[in-house]
Amino acid sequence: MRILSIETSCDETAIAIVECEGGAEAPIFSVRAHVVATQIATHRPFGGVVPSLAKREHLINLPLAYAEVLEQLKAAGHKEKFDRIAVTVGPGLEPALWTGINFAKDLGEKLGVPVVGANHLEGHMYSNWLPSALPTTHSPLSTRIAFPAVVLLVSGGHTALVVMDSLQSWRKLGETQDDAAGEAFDKVAKMLGLPYPGGPEVERMAQGGNPDAIPFPRPMLHSGDFNFSFSGLKTAVLYHLRGGSLSTTHYPLPTHVADVCASFQKAAIDVLCAKTMRAAEENGAQSVLVCGGVASNAALSAELKKRADEVGMAFFAPAMQYNGDNAVMIAAASYLGTGHSVDKALPNLNL
Ligand code: KG4
Ligand code: ZN
Repeated sequence: MRILSIETSCDETAIAIVECEGGAEAPIFSVRAHVVATQIATHRPFGGVVPSLAKREHLINLPLAYAEVLEQLKAAGHKEKFDRIAVTVGPGLEPALWTGINFAKDLGEKLGVPVVGANHLEGHMYSNWLPSALPTTHSPLSTRIAFPAVVLLVSGGHTALVVMDSLQSWRKLGETQDDAAGEAFDKVAKMLGLPYPGGPEVERMAQGGNPDAIPFPRPMLHSGDFNFSFSGLKTAVLYHLRGGSLSTTHYPLPTHVADVCASFQKAAIDVLCAKTMRAAEENGAQSVLVCGGVASNAALSAELKKRADEVGMAFFAPAMQYNGDNAVMIAAASYLGTGHSVDKALPNLNL
């Protein structure tokens, strides 16, 4: 089945064309075309995503991205023929989501192709089953990830733990009670005067800092459940900066910034890893998976891998290009995940 997939839930306009075969038993995803138009430069001056600007950019970028995937398809010698159009229907920013949904519906009508909705969070989960190089026709991981698998989903909008008994049977174990992990990285970066998106900046600065310099709290580490909370940690960073010799109106010295980044990152990673591994042990997991934008954090994946290795569990992370928002994962979510109508009012999808 050839799926044309569209993703506009936040600040990336993405369209992909993916050949999906093998069913849920042994899915193979072959990426025929893949475009991600990022809006980072648009939102950077505001220190975060501005929904009305995201909508405006999606409206501009969607036809351009569509023209580009068609070019890629043609260049690879494939015919312009689709069995399905898949579009993210949530969760996400409503004005942004609607641009993708309306574009997909118009296109579906024009081409005479059915349009189905896909869950963005399922997309992140299934990104672990996507091929590792572009363009490629193979998905070798699908045969290697053993179930049960515990998935840590960490993005700018979401932080959740999920247990998968199979590709199509999964349940949420817990989630953040306030900020998402990526959001905490972004907010800490903002406090330190680092540009948006803050996650990669904090990680870069942390490399030169001492992770044990500041004893930031590990919120909900011993809460006994699988929920998270990052707003207290973010506030602890703010208080630390205010309590120092420099006020928040003056940015701290570079060495201090590095120590704050390293100590904050370590606190966040400690909580994420401890909860993930406890979830994995309590659910008899054979595999530990990470996904979402924060999965790009090398310190996080190294620590998760180390802890999984220690207890003999396999660790998997998606290929880098599928950590952030993309449309290839939306094709996978449409092929493997829960189907959603695009004719009803926008569902406030969640896991
Ligand atoms: O999955 P994603 O692209 O969008 C959402 O669905 O939210 O995730 C974006 C988030 C941002 O908060 C960004 O700062 C964070 O992922 N991020 C990172 C890193 N790279 C991206 N956080 C920590 N370390 C990184 N290296
Ligand atoms: Zn996302």
